Amino acid sequence: MWLPCRCAAKYVAASFSRGVSASFLHALRRNRSSWNAAAFMPESSGFEGVSGRDALHDYSVSHSESFWAAVARQRLSWIRPFDVVQDCDLSQGRISWFEGGKLNVSVNCLDRHVHTCPERVALIWERDEQGSEVRYTYKELLEMTCRLGNLLRRQGVKKGDCVTIYMPTCPLAVASMLACARIGAAHNVVFAGFSAEALAERIRDAQSSTVITVNQGVRGGKITELKRTVDAAVRSCPSVQQVFVAMRTEKQVEMTDRDFVLEEEMLKEDDVLFLLYTSGSTGKPKGLVHTQAGYLLYAAFTHRYVFGYHDGDVFGCVADIGWITGHSYTVYGPLANGGTTVLFESTPVYPDPGRYWEMVERLRINQFYGAPTAIRLLIKYGDQWVKKYDRSSLTTLGSVGEPINTEAWEWYNRVVGEGRCPVVDTWWQTETGGICIAPKPSEPDAEIVPGMAMRPFFGIKPVLMDTEGKVLTSNNTSGALCMAQPWPGMARTIHNNHQRFIETYFQPYPGYFFTGDGAYRSEKGYYQITGRLDDVINVSGHRIGTAEIEDVVNQCPAVAESAVIGYSHSIKGQGVYAFVVLKKGVDIQEADISKQLNNMVSEKIAKYACPEFVQFAKRLPKTRSGKIMRRVLRKVVECDLDSLGDLSTLDDPAAVQEIIKGHEKLLSK
Ligand code: WTA
Repeated sequence: MWLPCRCAAKYVAASFSRGVSASFLHALRRNRSSWNAAAFMPESSGFEGVSGRDALHDYSVSHSESFWAAVARQRLSWIRPFDVVQDCDLSQGRISWFEGGKLNVSVNCLDRHVHTCPERVALIWERDEQGSEVRYTYKELLEMTCRLGNLLRRQGVKKGDCVTIYMPTCPLAVASMLACARIGAAHNVVFAGFSAEALAERIRDAQSSTVITVNQGVRGGKITELKRTVDAAVRSCPSVQQVFVAMRTEKQVEMTDRDFVLEEEMLKEDDVLFLLYTSGSTGKPKGLVHTQAGYLLYAAFTHRYVFGYHDGDVFGCVADIGWITGHSYTVYGPLANGGTTVLFESTPVYPDPGRYWEMVERLRINQFYGAPTAIRLLIKYGDQWVKKYDRSSLTTLGSVGEPINTEAWEWYNRVVGEGRCPVVDTWWQTETGGICIAPKPSEPDAEIVPGMAMRPFFGIKPVLMDTEGKVLTSNNTSGALCMAQPWPGMARTIHNNHQRFIETYFQPYPGYFFTGDGAYRSEKGYYQITGRLDDVINVSGHRIGTAEIEDVVNQCPAVAESAVIGYSHSIKGQGVYAFVVLKKGVDIQEADISKQLNNMVSEKIAKYACPEFVQFAKRLPKTRSGKIMRRVLRKVVECDLDSLGDLSTLDDPAAVQEIIKGHEKLLSK
């Protein structure tokens, strides 16, 4: 007999039941009656007198509001509970559920589970390439979603906007959806099989300003040019301002100003804690980006161990919070360790040169952390300003920001620390987030060599490179200081310029982080910083790029060109020396121009960047290709005329003689 297939199951069941025993039926009935609604559906535990599936169903229909209210409260996490379960009127097409309530879909799908089971697999991505599946845990999916959400927000996507997602089924597509949900934007996923025209119509209708896609799709072994389809669609979508392109394959596709590589942009989107601008070798300062957990951990950990900080100690870092030292060791490190930290608003010589030590006595400071430039200044005023005050609370003295010369180190150790307190010369940078090389921690009686940062901190693996980019393995050698391994405190990017981040720190020595400093490794394997290898100078412990100063000097209408050089300064470490060529026919006193330049630099950068010396010259020594020979200028200002080096590439060697004469004249004034 032919039976329509819908009847087949019924028929089979009926014929089956004819043959089953009475005891089986009895058991079935008993089971049904003891069906426990609350065990089956915990949300139903408050429904009075409901037992059995059918009763539960009846309840859900007859008490629809209490049913859905209970389910909503228990199944989902609410930021704000709803006021009204439903307000619907089908005759008018009015549909409203859970009014007044507020929740975040993304938090419900991710965060809740990351709290309880972060390592549970959330996605198994069964890629087109068979057998190459990839698993993503809840934790990973949450991280991906947060980065994407932050990126969208930074790029101007707001609550209420609609983002079009034109992607194949992949984790980034899921993260894109959840990221929209997270920031309150709507998403509009368009099936990646649709044509450019169909896509355009949907983008226009949704008024999307942002599209997320992939460079190419891969399906059934075939490549589809999804980015190209988006390009075609966007041509007729004036609302679109930005397209994020994820790289599903390695193929480079054409990118316009409007396009961004999604993964690259996401890398920049970490949990940013702060930007801190610092100088590089170009005129434009870099906004280094530090993030939360990694930075904080590293600041706290180094604070605890380099300085031997213990609960109850008073930590006195006198750096301004406008510099990285103030960030890591006045604010974050000590506070993360539950410490007491001193905020020093004053100067080392106000009201008199005893200020630091009077403060040490009065506040009972245990660890004192300052800059060599201040120490050198205080030496000049004499020991009596130190000895006047009780410094018995001190246990550790720190130095930071520039090389500390032996004389300053000895004085700090002997006079300030009465020979009892280890002096830690700490080497690090805005980029490193915290101290990377320091004499402490070490074995209790391990030696401390004056003027040397000495020992890499935990997790830090320095290497020295030769000029060919090869790692120097022997001791008693000098080279470019690089780090062979990442550490949690390192900066994550340069704000708005990830490319510069890569070029500055990771391209000079591929596979390594390049610090920009040179270093010497002693016979015993200790590190000593020898100074910058680029055009960055260090004035009173403040970093400044010579190009930044030149930029300002060149803005003076009388100036044709300039070259700014750092020279050794007995207190500041380095001072600023500017060579200036005036425009033809300028008829202003040189002294007036000098004054004008000083005003400009202090107005546009800061006082500390003002040139100590301005030498006017008719021309600057240049190579035949027109590059200013800074090496020669540096030697001239250091009065090291014997090692001017090879001058054969100079365009006009007579220029050097003029510069030397001008320098002598300036010094004799
Ligand atoms: C220099 C300051 C020698 C170095 C924390 C580095 C040092 C730059 C030392 C970073 C030291 C810092 N010995 N040189 N102990 N500490 N420097 O970013 O040239 O303001 O690259 O960070 O200061 O300066 P930044």
